[in-house]
Amino acid sequence: MNWMKKWAGKFPVFVAEAHGAHFTDVDGRDYVDLCLGDTGAMTGHSPAGFTDAIAHQAKRGITLMLPTEDAIWVGEELARRFGLPLWQFTLTATDANRFAIRIAREITQRSKVLVFNYCYHGTVDEAYITLQDGVAASRHGNIGPPVDPTLTTRVVEFNDLAALESALLHGDVACILAEPALTNVGIVHPDPGYWAAAANLAKKYGTLLLIDETHTICAGPGGYTRAHGLKPDLFVIGKAIGSGVPAATFGMTAEVADRITARIRLEDCDTGGIGGTLAGNALSLAAIRATLENVLTPEAFAHMIPLAERWANGVANAIAASGLLWHVTRLGCRAEYLFRPRPPRNGGEAAAAMDFELERFMHLYALNRGVLLTPFHSMALMSPATSAADVDRHSEAFTSAVRELVASA
Ligand SMILES: Cc1ncc(COP(=O)(O)O)c(C=O)c1O
Repeated sequence: MNWMKKWAGKFPVFVAEAHGAHFTDVDGRDYVDLCLGDTGAMTGHSPAGFTDAIAHQAKRGITLMLPTEDAIWVGEELARRFGLPLWQFTLTATDANRFAIRIAREITQRSKVLVFNYCYHGTVDEAYITLQDGVAASRHGNIGPPVDPTLTTRVVEFNDLAALESALLHGDVACILAEPALTNVGIVHPDPGYWAAAANLAKKYGTLLLIDETHTICAGPGGYTRAHGLKPDLFVIGKAIGSGVPAATFGMTAEVADRITARIRLEDCDTGGIGGTLAGNALSLAAIRATLENVLTPEAFAHMIPLAERWANGVANAIAASGLLWHVTRLGCRAEYLFRPRPPRNGGEAAAAMDFELERFMHLYALNRGVLLTPFHSMALMSPATSAADVDRHSEAFTSAVRELVASA
C-alpha cells in the first residue's frame, strides 16, 4: 500500500509482532502504536478475550453459507448500541458503504449520492470527488474511475446547510453518505445543530441519511450516532468492529428494510450486486461478537477517552510554548493536530492546511523516538491497552520536535 511507501527513508519499519498498544520491529525495537492500523486495531493488537474466541471459532468452521448463533447475538447488540433493528455483514467498510448505497438508490429510484468535500469512505467510486475552486471534479490521483464521479455524485462542503439544500433540491440524491464528524482530513466537527438541520433537509427532499461510523466509533460505545442522538436510515461500521479480522456491517431502519424487501424476488440469487461469498462468515461474526462483548466495552471507552485528552493536552501545551500557529482537535479517543491556528469547519479548509513534508518530518521524528502515528495524517488513537506512559512518550517527542523546528526556523 502507498502508506507503507510514504515514510521518509527507503523502506518502512517491518513488524515482528504486536501486542496491545505496542509493536516490536524486526530489529527488536519497541514502539507505541498510536496509528493502530488506522482504526482496524483500535481494540489494541490481539486483545485478551478476543484471541481465544477467534481460536475457538477457527477450530469449529470458518465459513459456511448459513448463519451461526453469533449472528443473533451480534444483530441484537448492534441494534442495542446503534439503534437500527436490521443488519447485514460484509468483509470491509468499503463494501458495506457500497451495498448501502445500492439499497438507497434502489428504493429511492434516484441516481446520485451526496458526499462532503475531502471525505473518505474507503474505495467507494462515488466518493472520489472534490471541489476545485468550487467546482466538482474527480479527485486528484483517482485511478481509472469507472464513471466520471461528477455524473454520480454531488459534493458540498461540510457545515454548509445552504449548499446542502441547493444540492438536494434537484431531487436526484438517493442518500447523503457522511461521517458524522470528518476524520479523514484531520478532524472536522459539525457545528452545533448541524446534523438536526441536515437530517431535516434530507427528509424534506426524500433523501436517505447513510452514516459511516467506521472511524467515529471513537466517540463512544454507540458511536457518534448514539452519543448525539442521530437517526440515520442506513449505518455502516467496519475495521475495529472485528478487532482487525475482516468484518464490517451495515444496518437499516425497518422502513428501509421493508422497501428493499418489497423489491427483491427470492429466486434472484447473485443478481443484486450486494454481498460476497465470505460475507457474514462464522469467523467474522465470532470476531464482532468477541469485540463487542469483551473489548470495545463502555469501561474501555472510559479508559481511552481521558487518554486522548491527555494526548491532546500534551500537544496543545507544546504548540502554545512554541508559538506555532497549529492546533489540536479531539473526538472521543481520537485526536489530531493540524498546521493551522483554528479547527477547520470543512474539508476544504482542512485540506489547505496539509503539508506533506512537514508531516513526514513530524512522523519520522516520533518514529525515531518509538512512536508510530498514522502515516497520512497526524492522528493518534487510544486503545484499551494504551497507557499514560505511552501518551507521555509522544508528548516528549512532539515537544522536542517543535522546539527543534522553531529553533531552526
Ligand atoms: C470513514 C471510513 N469509512 C470506510 C473506510 C473503508 O474501510 P476499509 O478500507 O476497511 O474498507 C474507511 C477507511 O479508512 C473510513 O475511514
